[in-house]
Amino acid sequence: MSLKTLTVVGARPEFVQTAPLAREISARPGITGDLIHTGQHYDYEMSELFFSQLELPEPKFHLGVGSGSHGVQTGAMLAELDTVYLGEQPDVVITHGDTNSTVAAALSAAKLGIPVAHVEAGLRSWNRGMPEELNRVVTDHLADLLYCPGEAAAENLRNEGITEGVAIVGDLMRDSLRWTMQGVDVPKTLADHGVSSGEFFFATIHRAENTDDRDVLRSILEGLAGVAQIYPVILPAHPRTRPLIHDIGVPPRVEIIEPVGHAEAMALVGDAAAVLTDSGGLQKEVYWLQTPCVTVREQTEWVETVAAGWNRLVTTDPEAIEAATREAVASRPAHPELYGDGHTAERIVDHLLMSLGRRGKPTSE
Ligand code: UD1
Repeated sequence: MSLKTLTVVGARPEFVQTAPLAREISARPGITGDLIHTGQHYDYEMSELFFSQLELPEPKFHLGVGSGSHGVQTGAMLAELDTVYLGEQPDVVITHGDTNSTVAAALSAAKLGIPVAHVEAGLRSWNRGMPEELNRVVTDHLADLLYCPGEAAAENLRNEGITEGVAIVGDLMRDSLRWTMQGVDVPKTLADHGVSSGEFFFATIHRAENTDDRDVLRSILEGLAGVAQIYPVILPAHPRTRPLIHDIGVPPRVEIIEPVGHAEAMALVGDAAAVLTDSGGLQKEVYWLQTPCVTVREQTEWVETVAAGWNRLVTTDPEAIEAATREAVASRPAHPELYGDGHTAERIVDHLLMSLGRRGKPTSE
């Protein structure tokens, strides 16, 4: 009998992460898999576009949970997931990253005694004010198998007493990037946006701490206005941010566009003079594409990108944003390989088969 996996996804970064894993699971003997989409992200540009571009299989279950306060959203997922898990009886539930979908997937499975595999385990920002930090800490402590992108993440887990079931496997986003770049038409994408290679900035801002407070968001937009004096800025706006930006006012030479798919985003990131972001996953993709990054956050989980000199953390002060961007554009440090080689999906499937075999908890049973 094959190892039966169920993978829970709900938000944009999870679609990118799970695509190579879904491909690997369907290609390998001895393991099968289905997707559950919680419905956390539901707009066409936030969900369906990713499923079609990344050639993700249609989810077997669509929970249609939608938006709400964190408690309402997570609670609705838990209620639905219990029913699906009980009906499907998976051998393992796979959950990615740090969203509300991630923690709901793990909590429901753990309470039903189903082994949980957490991919992208062990990351820490040390900021408990971030919902993502709470989600990932709880998920790591519920998980039976913990797949870390690098040694720093495994060390964080050791410091919290988690040593069983931990494997350093690299990062699935690297696999996804390798796959996506094969189909990317960079000249066409640049022409579509009316920009020249190396002479524009790509920006994304959506995190709650940067958008919930109007003054904070205004300050970031002022920073972008300064940056736009160097080169124009393309800013695909998350649905959370779009109305807020329009309300405050769009700075000159900053172009607000709809959220873009993975291929288009990666084409733009690869040819930008620098990327300004508060996203987690994007910081790695920017690194792999050898573009300098300015991260508008007080902490990052991706500390290795900062240590390598390719990523700068800045406050929301407009002058700090502009100064860091000028520095970033001017610097080209060495580029060590970080977070794996793009073959993480294979390692995860190997490890799942090795540690779970047919059925049951990975430890002594
Ligand atoms: C979530 C993750 C975040 C991740 C981000 C990627 C959590 C706590 N956060 O944040 O870590 O970086 O996804 O995009 O899970 N909305 C729409 N259409 C959509 C989705 C959301 O309009 O398709 C609106 C919602 O109405 C809500 C806001 O965007 O007002 C926030 O959505 P939500 O899924 O709660 O969190 P994200 O900000 O997307």
